[in-house]
Amino acid sequence: MNQSSEVKPKQVFPESISSTHKTVLNVDQIKQWREAGFVFVHGVFPSDLVDILRSEAHKRLPAADTEDSSRVRGFGSDIVFPSDISEHNLMTLDQTLLQTVAQLLACSVDDIRLTQSDVWAKYGRDESDEDFDNSDQRMHVDYPNHTLVHPPRWDRPEAVEAIVYLDNIEDCSGPTAVVERLGPQDPAYRWPIIDTPGVADLDYVNDRGRAEDYFSAKRPALSNWRKSLYEREAYVQYHVGDVLFYRHDTWHRGTPLQKGKRRIVMNLTFRRSMSEWISTLHIGWAWASYRPGKPLSHLLANLTVDQRTVLGFPKPGSDYWNSQTLAAVEARYGSFGMDMDPYRDSKLLK
Ligand SMILES: [Fe+2]
Repeated sequence: MNQSSEVKPKQVFPESISSTHKTVLNVDQIKQWREAGFVFVHGVFPSDLVDILRSEAHKRLPAADTEDSSRVRGFGSDIVFPSDISEHNLMTLDQTLLQTVAQLLACSVDDIRLTQSDVWAKYGRDESDEDFDNSDQRMHVDYPNHTLVHPPRWDRPEAVEAIVYLDNIEDCSGPTAVVERLGPQDPAYRWPIIDTPGVADLDYVNDRGRAEDYFSAKRPALSNWRKSLYEREAYVQYHVGDVLFYRHDTWHRGTPLQKGKRRIVMNLTFRRSMSEWISTLHIGWAWASYRPGKPLSHLLANLTVDQRTVLGFPKPGSDYWNSQTLAAVEARYGSFGMDMDPYRDSKLLK
């Protein structure tokens, strides 16, 4: 019942389109994300940052075929923003990345907020006998454990998700599978998106074989419809530094790695500032404030105004700012070098 054999790509995305640093997606790439539900890009991040994060993550996360790795069944790790790997922080708030996300959401950078940034490893192993195993995932959308509601209409996206690959597909297989949306009438993307384990009265089951057995029992009339999603899946031919931008309402899944292999990725999510129903998946950024050496204070002080805003720091012109709050925040961060002028100069300062 479980089909955790190695996945052989049967469809291949077109050559990923290069986007050099300082530039963002072209019109066709934006259109693809908006209409088809994903876009696969390389060259978003400076390669030196990617290489260092990759090297650090490889050192810190359990190696394949170790006792520690055998206990990993889900996703996530303790490498979470704000991170003691500075390249992780720099990539999370990379200006090109932020501009790209803003373009996809058709808004300005100061209108996006970070809600997820973590680095984690997936491992190739034998067939699973556990519902929650992450190896051969069921076809799913990500919104249920990101938002308290349901994604809005397709043409009004409010979040961007990204997978940044830190390994090469040739070394471990396990491509991410995505179902392209073929226009407004595509039956795969009918409204609402609820026919998946974990939504409404359906239990959360991650493992593909077990999830589809469960779905067949609960929704026998729709079982063939879910089969059609698997038949349409296409696989990302990833390499180090490539980025898959997708959405909370994009059908996708992780596929099994080769046995005994490890693959590391960084997951990122950004939302529109007004979409407060989309949760931050980690503990709040401020929780890192008491770490020895005050790394969060140093980080905040040295970010641009837009980067701070993406973390939820009040932007110039916010109702938060007045002469008292300006002086108080300067007292907290001035010694770390934070330039308060952009907030002081705001026309709306009361
Ligand atoms: Fe997912």
